Order: sequence, then C-alpha cells, then structure tokens
Amino acid sequence: MALVTFSNPGYKNKTVYAVAGSHTETILKIAQEHKIPVNFDCGNGECGSCLVKVSLLGKDHKAPLGVSLSMKEQTVLRQLGKISQDELDDLVTIDRTGEWRLACQFIVRDEDILVEY
Ligand code: FES
Repeated sequence: MALVTFSNPGYKNKTVYAVAGSHTETILKIAQEHKIPVNFDCGNGECGSCLVKVSLLGKDHKAPLGVSLSMKEQTVLRQLGKISQDELDDLVTIDRTGEWRLACQFIVRDEDILVEY
C-alpha cells in the first residue's frame, strides 16, 4: 500500500491508500475514485491537461521513482516545457523521473507521494 496525498490551494489536502504494483492504478484513476478534481481531457497521455507535480513524502520532496516516462509522456512534458532533453538524458542514468508528470500516465508504486494539482 502506498499513501497518496493530493494537494491543491483551493481544496483541503486529502490522503488516500493506493494499491501499489497493480500496474493499472494511475494518479488520475485514484483521484477519480476518491472524487478529487484533478483536471484531465484525453486520459491517454496526449493533451497534457492532467499535469501534476509529484514528490516523495518525507524525503525532502525528491522526485519519486514511479514508472519510467513513456515516450508519450516525454513528448507532452517536452511540449509543455516541463522537462528538457538534458533532463531526459539524465533520467536514463539516475533511474528517477522528474517532478512534473501526467496524472493519467503515472502508475503508483510502493512509495508515499505528494501530488500537487
Ligand atoms: S489527460 Fe490528457 S495527457 Fe493526461
């Protein structure tokens, strides 16, 4: 089980449990199940409307491991200016992702995270 805390200036923080390692539990799916209003349009990693900031809870806000960035997610984050090619190149060697992610693509793993939306 992983704890996912959703945070938004307009709403009270909400922490929920997520089943880690299911390979299907995206941040967006978890938000929808708990009626947390994370924006989305396509739900398929193509529009960028579900952009969120993700960090590890209690670890000086380091970026979480999550699941590697898919090509779709890399393309959209590059288009949004949230990750550079240099940062993408670094990800290959440091095995961590950046803090900006797409909620519809980020699959929760066994780590407690903060999701700012
Ligand atoms: S909803 Fe379109 S990229 Fe996530």
